[in-house]
Amino acid sequence: MIKVNTIKKEYTKWDWQAGKNVPFTEEMTQFILSTPNSTYALAALESGHLCHIYYGRRTDDEDLAYLMRLGENPYTPKVNSRDMGTFMDTTPFEYPVHGTGDYREPAVMIRDGNGATSLDLRYVSYSITDGKPLLSQELEDCTVKVPATYADGSDARTLCITMKEIHTGVEVDLYYTAFESLDAVTRSAVIRNTGDRVDILRALSAAVDFDSCEYDWITLNGSWARERIVERSPLHHGKQSVDSVKGESSHQSNPFVALVSHNADENSGEAYGFNLVYSGNFFAQAEVTQHKRTRVVMGVNPFDFAWALEKGQSFTVPECVMVYSDKGIGEMSRTFHDLYRRHLIRGEYKDKRRPILINNWEATYFNFDEEKLFSIAKQAKELGIEMLVMDDGWFGHRNSDNSSLGDWYVNENKIKGGLKALVDRVNGIGMMFGIWLEPEMISPDSDLYRAHPDWAIQVKGLPLTQSREQYVLDYSRKEVRDCIWSQIKAILDNANIEYIKWDMNRQLTEVASAALPSDRQRELWHRFVLGVYDLQERLCTEYPHILLENCSGGGARFDPGMLFYSPQIWASDDTDAIERLKIQYGTSICYPASAMGAHVSDCPNHTVGRSTPFETRGNVAMVGTFGYELDVTRIPQADRDEIPSQIEKFKKYNPLVRTGDQYRLGNIFEDNTFDAWMFVSKDKSQAVLTYVQVLGRPNYHSRRIKPAGLDPERRYRSSQTGEVHPGSTFMNCGIDVALDGDFKSLVIEFTEV
Ligand code: GLA
Repeated sequence: MIKVNTIKKEYTKWDWQAGKNVPFTEEMTQFILSTPNSTYALAALESGHLCHIYYGRRTDDEDLAYLMRLGENPYTPKVNSRDMGTFMDTTPFEYPVHGTGDYREPAVMIRDGNGATSLDLRYVSYSITDGKPLLSQELEDCTVKVPATYADGSDARTLCITMKEIHTGVEVDLYYTAFESLDAVTRSAVIRNTGDRVDILRALSAAVDFDSCEYDWITLNGSWARERIVERSPLHHGKQSVDSVKGESSHQSNPFVALVSHNADENSGEAYGFNLVYSGNFFAQAEVTQHKRTRVVMGVNPFDFAWALEKGQSFTVPECVMVYSDKGIGEMSRTFHDLYRRHLIRGEYKDKRRPILINNWEATYFNFDEEKLFSIAKQAKELGIEMLVMDDGWFGHRNSDNSSLGDWYVNENKIKGGLKALVDRVNGIGMMFGIWLEPEMISPDSDLYRAHPDWAIQVKGLPLTQSREQYVLDYSRKEVRDCIWSQIKAILDNANIEYIKWDMNRQLTEVASAALPSDRQRELWHRFVLGVYDLQERLCTEYPHILLENCSGGGARFDPGMLFYSPQIWASDDTDAIERLKIQYGTSICYPASAMGAHVSDCPNHTVGRSTPFETRGNVAMVGTFGYELDVTRIPQADRDEIPSQIEKFKKYNPLVRTGDQYRLGNIFEDNTFDAWMFVSKDKSQAVLTYVQVLGRPNYHSRRIKPAGLDPERRYRSSQTGEVHPGSTFMNCGIDVALDGDFKSLVIEFTEV
């Protein structure tokens, strides 16, 4: 719901010269966006400054002007001409600029034709539309869709505020979408140039000024094989930020931050989550200001970024999703999950169970041929697995990671008889077939590189940095994308491929393009990401039946931008069930379980060397998309025997995991002796609880944990004890779990009776 209210009020302001309070009037237009439980309010002042009024628990008041503190520092030359700076540096702004008195972090910075970077943006007009417009970026030779949440008129309304810069031809459309049934507000912007050339030096997606600094700041950080580790700390004066400068959203930081009240836990307290729908360099910062207020900003990283706008051109600022919860961090997560499942993920698999796959990476690495793959497929089929995924090493002459990226034709020395013959054979026994690709990469040892050395991103005169013995293709160039696309098409048209794992195994260095003029080189970071989006969109449009799973050296591109194309993303190369507790907990902070790539792998685990029970590996992978990553022909017979029942269990609970509400019952970061979580169906008639005991139970005693999300009034039967109690009993009093030994786990079902 969006309300617009223009009011004129009288205020007073102390006038130093007159030595008394003097009256003045202010006419402002307030825009009040409401979701079921939250309100986001902003106002255009008479002067044209666009100010932030409020973000938080819902209020239905139509006049929140008093929150503007206008008597303190008004922009009213009559009474305040001597100190405009105070107004600029203390007022909460919606899209703060640089250079005209606001010394806090700006959202936008643009260099004019004279090289100056000061801006003055003023409100011009607004419009409100049902639903949500699509975002796209026009480039010289094509238009690229920019990923964003989508909604029709029944789900959302969008406010567009147009602003104009005073001394250039720059105009900005700020978009705000309020969702009707979810506490989510999204923001994006389009910057247009109607005058002489300007250069955008930063164009963030959102800035929100909070009136307090009494919050904790939550971020998701890590490294390869340790992605999205939750960190929480109180805000402090100055700036705290997370970002990526690697060309992808990265292992090290995720484009997610939250401000939560100090007392917030899973079930109570306030939480504001910010998530950028973007897969490249991002920046998120909380700045505690002189008056103990907080400015949060998020967007494409301004570091090493610039974008030239000639007359008539425009730049689309990616979307920032903001979620508010006054019922704790758990509720914030569930809102993100619902939003992404309903309004971001697309395609045939959006609401469908994904095929149970077996991937040969940890089974064989590069050492396989068609017979080996077929033997895995055959054994897997007998156990109930539905799809074989052929991972890295099937193309060019690749037998290790040192060659052939860019040569996307099958290596017939390895896959004798060709790809189609293998796929047909696998299909013939009733298994689907999927394939691994790394389309953004080029190996120095490849036909593609020998033919087009300038297609690798590189700086003239500098040696190229190899990483995993590979370079990155210049996806800002359409001819490069077209060439890779025609190779991918040839594979897809030749054989019945039903799944693609799209990998990206290195970060960008020596970032320059042979095709861009010198004054546009800083655009390459963003143009590269747009190029990736262009190809993934082609894949989704031309091959809608293919299930796409994004991946980046494990989980370095687990972001909402990727979810627009792939309903699932490989969460981490660390498949150890115990390490996964942290990785999956962190991922669940804003991403749904339906999107989390998780597999059962062999032991001792290849990354950490730990051995865990096969059952626990299954119970942990079950809260993701589920599959196997092991040589099923060689694992212990006892493990193999367990697979059919594990698959039955997965099939039984997957609808709950995929569509239900997730409750985190343990916190592995605070107590590393156990973890537990629960999925409850939307109608609350059924729930499944998973408990994993990391370290043996204390002194032979059972551990009491408290289920959540059940209906307190309705009665449920616990599969653990067979006992029937009201949901309130289970939730308030808890249940007792007793398992012997480390790494054991248990799944308990609650069914309404
Ligand atoms: C990345 C992926 C792995 C595997 C390898 C293949 O590391 O995350 O799952 O596909 O590449 O090279």
